[in-house]
Amino acid sequence: MSRSAEFYGGSDRNAYLHRAWMRRGVPDHAFDGRPNIAIANTASDLTPCNAHLDEVAQSVKNGIYEAGGIPYNLPMVSLGETTVRTTAMLWRNMAAMAAEELLRANPVDGVVLLGGCDKTIPALLMAAASVGIPAIVVPGGPMLNGSFRGRPLGCGTGVWKLSEEVRAGGLSDAEFRSTESSMIRSRGHCNTMGTASTMAFMAEALGMSLPGVAGTPAPDSRLLELSHASGRRVVELVGQETTPADIMTPGAFHNAIVALAAIGGSTNAVVHLLAIAGRLGVDLSLDDFDRIGDGVPLLVNLQPAGEYLMEDLFRAGGFLAVLNEVRHLLDSSTVTVSGRRLVDELPTEAVWDRDVIRTATEPLQPDAGIVVLRGNLAPSGAIIKPAAASAELLRHRGPAVVFDSVEDMRARIDDPDLVVDENSVLVLRGCGPRGYPGMPEVANMPLPRRLLEKGVRDMVRICDGRMSGTAYGTVVLHVAPEAAAGGPLALVQDGDLIEIDVEARGLTLLVPEDELRRRTPPTQLKAAYASPKRGWEQLYIDHVQQADTGADLDFLTGATGPAVMRDSH
Ligand code: FES
Repeated sequence: MSRSAEFYGGSDRNAYLHRAWMRRGVPDHAFDGRPNIAIANTASDLTPCNAHLDEVAQSVKNGIYEAGGIPYNLPMVSLGETTVRTTAMLWRNMAAMAAEELLRANPVDGVVLLGGCDKTIPALLMAAASVGIPAIVVPGGPMLNGSFRGRPLGCGTGVWKLSEEVRAGGLSDAEFRSTESSMIRSRGHCNTMGTASTMAFMAEALGMSLPGVAGTPAPDSRLLELSHASGRRVVELVGQETTPADIMTPGAFHNAIVALAAIGGSTNAVVHLLAIAGRLGVDLSLDDFDRIGDGVPLLVNLQPAGEYLMEDLFRAGGFLAVLNEVRHLLDSSTVTVSGRRLVDELPTEAVWDRDVIRTATEPLQPDAGIVVLRGNLAPSGAIIKPAAASAELLRHRGPAVVFDSVEDMRARIDDPDLVVDENSVLVLRGCGPRGYPGMPEVANMPLPRRLLEKGVRDMVRICDGRMSGTAYGTVVLHVAPEAAAGGPLALVQDGDLIEIDVEARGLTLLVPEDELRRRTPPTQLKAAYASPKRGWEQLYIDHVQQADTGADLDFLTGATGPAVMRDSH
């Protein structure tokens, strides 16, 4: 018996209750056992990147009806990356938990996951993995390209660049502000290879989207066509009893990691993929990103690593054309929600602009994988994205300049008395999952103004937080354990020498062990994370795990499955 039939079937009082209250627009045949499909919809006016998803939902609905299913709009917790405080990452697990429980509690047999802005697709995939009902992702698509003074202006990446130009004295405040509308030109998520674009591509590489949908611009009519097709397809998935665990196999994660490197994707994909794998019981580790991504070339010339924007990638052939260039590196056994193997979905002759999508033999960079660094400063690992870093800083030794919080960094970074030069290593701590709490995107901290004025544009930065997928620089991030969880990052002092060696995978604090044993974390650092909280924040601090395993809550890893729960009356 299907899940929905367990609610609606029969003639007892509870079946009456379930049916009767639904009879406001829902026809009688909705209760005859045909697939009831939730449209998990993260549309919200306060998540501007997803505000258009109600229109997408309508196309999905039409497809579901056409295939003989019954669609239901199910509003989800929605997270606007640029709107919510303290950081959307604090709420990702809450959104995932709410989605999981709503899907399990309701009379639905399958689900279409509508996301876009950074945390929305990861949260929905985590939920679908834990519920285990047939699911398909429809990403909301990127915005149209922005431009400023004739040059591409990418979401996020442009903000970081222009704000540094303002600080360096090259751009006025008024000019800076005038770029807002030319950067954000339309509906859709960020148009750079930031986290939203990356996670849409990750969903497709995992096999959870119909091939070709990820990267379709939000205003493009083809997005609605593919939304309609996704609605049709989910009804078939229910009939075939295809679950997310059937699709998101270890091979699918292998393909996602290859794709992550080839597109030069966001470092945030690391925590999200680890968290999704944790829900499925797939044995994925931080080191798998380094191992599988090693030697994968960077093929996509998109900001922040390159020049172009998402509309250009779509015009040049799109994500599947990129994957075709690394076909030989993919696990050929994985099957997507289309019912076909991923490798059979790849076009063989479909690159229309070789400046945007490069060949594996003439890539943008020969090796684009995320690198995992370890050492006495990050015993459980830290990551760096060499493709977004400065080559000359990938092996570097310099004295630490330490900040105990984002506020501390902002208060002192431009202080003329700050002892810092271009060889310094900027250390920002108290920004991990527990310490902030929520692991904000602050690791790409701004450079001191007087160094900017000297022309310095990159320095080694180390942080237990994350950075925006639209950001760039020689940034070592996701340091685990974080300072607030007893990690050695808490023991670094101004002037300590730190050595980073990306080729050797090393991150070393050059301070003798006995000296480190004598040190204790500064009291202000402890105070930041020990102050009493309530509600979700307290639950989160008590249960969040470290970045190296995906920063999920300890009691949310794994799956409970789709079993229908006890009745309510
Ligand atoms: Fe929503 Fe970038 S802020 S995708």
